[in-house]
Amino acid sequence: MAQKFRVALSGDFKKADGSPTYPDFDLAPLKSAPNVEMKIIESNNPIKGEQLEDFDALILLAHRFGKESVPASGRLAVVARFGVGYDTVDVDACTKAGIALVITQDGVRRPVAVSIITLMLALTGKLLIKDKLTREAAAGFAKRSDHMGVGLVGRTLGSVGIGNIGAETFRMAKPFDMKFIAHDPYADKQIAAELGIELVSLEDVFRRADIVSVSCPLTPETHHLVNAERLALMKPTAYFINTARGPIVDQKALTKVLQERRIAGAGLDVLEKEPPDADDPILKLDNVILAPHALCWTDQCFAGNGAADVKAVLDVQHGRVPRGVVNRAVLDHPDWKRRLAAFGKAFGGQ
Ligand SMILES: NC(=O)c1ccc[n+]([C@@H]2O[C@H](COP(=O)([O-])OP(=O)(O)OC[C@H]3O[C@@H](n4cnc5c(N)ncnc54)[C@H](O)[C@@H]3O)[C@@H](O)[C@H]2O)c1
Repeated sequence: MAQKFRVALSGDFKKADGSPTYPDFDLAPLKSAPNVEMKIIESNNPIKGEQLEDFDALILLAHRFGKESVPASGRLAVVARFGVGYDTVDVDACTKAGIALVITQDGVRRPVAVSIITLMLALTGKLLIKDKLTREAAAGFAKRSDHMGVGLVGRTLGSVGIGNIGAETFRMAKPFDMKFIAHDPYADKQIAAELGIELVSLEDVFRRADIVSVSCPLTPETHHLVNAERLALMKPTAYFINTARGPIVDQKALTKVLQERRIAGAGLDVLEKEPPDADDPILKLDNVILAPHALCWTDQCFAGNGAADVKAVLDVQHGRVPRGVVNRAVLDHPDWKRRLAAFGKAFGGQ
């Protein structure tokens, strides 16, 4: 066992001029941790295995970690993604090599739930329309009463998915005195009961909710889960929100429903194609609020992602299984178990 626990940060944590890409990521706790050495590695995308030969952990921003990134030395124990998406990581390659892949659920939970609440309030409060009216001065003021907002008390908030972010959204929406419904085939029933969420069929979420929000992962099963048939079930007064992943929604079908004003509106932080084509018809609609997959980007979100990664890495250093392991199968891999036990022996007492 080496004397130091060595942590690499992917090269994209540093800009070309050497300044940090995200200054809100506080590296001090890593730098000051006993027996830890950290280094921002040279920028390569994908990361080369040779770059990681002498490291125990990698904190990974946007660069790809593929098969070729697995170091031959067998030393690397953990890849900690800065965020919760891991389409840039070859998960199988990690598992085969006994490398744990962790994501930062603790960093994004509150910021994305806040994004959903932001969109819900902006849509039902007609915030963008009222902003526009005000800028039209007297002419706009004269049209105020044509744009009545929608009160939330007793209205139904429905979610597709009640995991990390979906559950937090309901937690945050509690003071609005709404009814809560959700569909999640793998729901934690205890959490649902604690939060007063009625678990219903997918179709019932679309049929019954005044606000339908999507908070499930993008998988082959959820691709275009929100399609023309399901959108047709929505009330004409209902709003649709997607902060999860664009391809969960058949965007052509949603655009049509919005163009024909068959629902009240939509709030979208994610689109099927990002960035969208400049002539994408959804960009022209006045009943949709859009954000460039960045509504949750705040100082606290980035600080939170950084803190979660640092915690995960230091947990591994002390021989503890970190939170947010994606490839759970790795926990039974002999190489992972051997490395973790050795770290625990070397650093666990500190
Ligand atoms: N907009 C952003 O910047 C941003 C940031 C972070 C996460 N996200 C996205 O938010 C979504 C939710 O993230 P999370 O951290 O809550 O994930 P999570 O894994 O904790 O929760 C997802 C939930 O969806 C459920 N689910 C799976 N398949 C389903 C299905 N077919 N129907 C209904 N529910 C289903 C799961 O059981 C789980 O409870 C993900 O798509 C994630 O990529 C977006």
